Amino acid sequence: MNYPYQIKTREAYDKAYKQSVEDPESFWANIAETFTWQKKWDKVLTWNFKDPDIKWFEGGKLNITENCLDRHLEKSGNKPAIIWESNDPEEHHRILTYKELHFKVVQFSNVLKNNGVKKGDRVCIYMGMIPELAIATLACARIGAIHSVIFGGFSAQAIADRLDDAQSEFIITCDGAYRGAKDIPLKSVIDDALIGNKSIKRVIVCTRTRTPVSMIKGRDVWWEDEIKKVETHGNPDCPAEVMDAEDILFILYTSGSTGKPKGVVHSTAGYMVWANYTFVNVFQYQPGQVHFCTADIGWITGHSYIIYGPLSAGGTTLMFEGVPTWPDAGRFWEIVDTYKVNILYTAPTAIRSLMGFGLEYLKNKDLSSLKVLGTVGEPINEEAWHWYDKNIGKGNCPIVDTWWQTETGGIMISNIANVTEGIPSFATLPLPGVQPCLVDENGVEIEGNKVNGNLCIKAPWPGIIRSTYRDHERCRQTYFSTYPDKYFTGDGCMRDADGNYRITGRVDDVLNVSGHRIGTAEVENAINMHAGVIESAVVGYPHDIKGQGIYAYVIHDGSHGDPNLTRQDILQTVARIIGPIAKPDKIQFVPGLPKTRSGKIMRRILRKIAEGDTGNLGDTSTLLDPSLVDIIKESRI
Ligand code: PRX
Repeated sequence: MNYPYQIKTREAYDKAYKQSVEDPESFWANIAETFTWQKKWDKVLTWNFKDPDIKWFEGGKLNITENCLDRHLEKSGNKPAIIWESNDPEEHHRILTYKELHFKVVQFSNVLKNNGVKKGDRVCIYMGMIPELAIATLACARIGAIHSVIFGGFSAQAIADRLDDAQSEFIITCDGAYRGAKDIPLKSVIDDALIGNKSIKRVIVCTRTRTPVSMIKGRDVWWEDEIKKVETHGNPDCPAEVMDAEDILFILYTSGSTGKPKGVVHSTAGYMVWANYTFVNVFQYQPGQVHFCTADIGWITGHSYIIYGPLSAGGTTLMFEGVPTWPDAGRFWEIVDTYKVNILYTAPTAIRSLMGFGLEYLKNKDLSSLKVLGTVGEPINEEAWHWYDKNIGKGNCPIVDTWWQTETGGIMISNIANVTEGIPSFATLPLPGVQPCLVDENGVEIEGNKVNGNLCIKAPWPGIIRSTYRDHERCRQTYFSTYPDKYFTGDGCMRDADGNYRITGRVDDVLNVSGHRIGTAEVENAINMHAGVIESAVVGYPHDIKGQGIYAYVIHDGSHGDPNLTRQDILQTVARIIGPIAKPDKIQFVPGLPKTRSGKIMRRILRKIAEGDTGNLGDTSTLLDPSLVDIIKESRI
């Protein structure tokens, strides 16, 4: 496959950028032309940010799986689409060619249909990182069902909330998942999520760990048995459902500043074009290259850069079931060596953690196949950037620092490998189609360079969030109302003298822990559910490996005696309500929280104390009880 819209020089970038701003409709029409459509669009773009109401390629009909699979069959049918590496280095890897992947997706599409799944139905997918997860996702897209993939680290309660919000009737899961030395009993978590649930019609269970599971008659079926029922001798057939460009492709839940995660809605055509365009350009993907994105498909990075970006480009995507440090900290490097990986896309937290193990694990690993390195999910500190550059890229590979969000569908601000310059800890320049601006607290745009502000985007790009599921008003309020006529990212940002952007972190109450997005309100809600907890306040603090750690201030009635036991109990409660990823790193018991006279918690002060910056806490005179601050400072942990 060739990519006529791949930017090859700095001049081409400048030209593409200019055109994308001056004439977005013809710019994106030219790119969209290269995809497979069942019917071309009538109008490239209509939009307003007030409602918001954004439509790309309206009137167009297509199916994303024809673009990710069918269109590659003739020329690349025997090329590897997915290389799968097991958690266990001794277990045989699997390679699925485009023909094989197409076959399996079509087959599983028929399984879904047999089980009553119809176009528009929401299907929850809760699986480990095995090829069947990609197959299930693509099969939903093939028949027009809306997938809602939930990361395997979320708890039963978190799943139940998401099932309820999406009004899902179908679940695809596994008996269990391997992650490093652990077996995670996925089906058993689903069983807990379904206690008392009356709306789930079917749970399809794929075998992976063969952990004993309970299979409820009439509701639960095995993936493998269902496949047998649709097995045909020739090639199975399942025509790709005709989808409108703006039909929902998927929902993905993410945290915000309220206690309830929101279902970010992405639609079909715009998301496809954006995932593909950004993949092909930022990483400068060349046909035949092996792309290894280390994210989990449960997050947006996995959706866009394990599945839809690489497959729509006819590329080879490497899917890894395990973790970077098991059986040892050389796992990534061994994978790069074994499969001659060309592009490695990972998170700063993984780099920092591997840095800590020293260079020993790099010995005897041939990394010479690497051409491009990438990072995503959080700001990368300079030390980690240089370590990645020197020891992994050997000084020869550009590092693309890609800034984007679940809501943006794909990369927004990043250098383009070998085309635009990378600068340590800067995301650098916006991609064509992206018009960033910085605004001050009053919503006034800050012009010029060497400035700081809140990062907004002025016009829609094809992959922009369309809604929050079943609650459009929440989408409007969260992203489009803070600053009229702008999409507000929730991030703070600096623009340097040359116009390069550097993301400084969230300006709302959202934490970024090991690249995972967690709302402080969500964690507080979970802590407050624990018996004896009267109130809590959660803030982030700098953490060497995780980027941010979770610091919880808790008022407890002391009824259970031993504070250490109470701490353990609170952690257990958070793991139950959200999942282990949201467990606070530190819990400090306090007699009260610093509040203003109107009852608002002064988080600024709590943040400073958590950071250890207790020297200058600013003005505390507006506090209801200023003496509390000293008490909290003294018992800081
Ligand atoms: O704060 C930014 C940070 O991650 C947030 C988005 O999180 P999520 O929706 O989970 O998506 C993560 C993967 C795309 C952003 O608001 N973030 C993401 N990438 C970067 C980043 N911060 C700094 N630099 C980045 N490259």
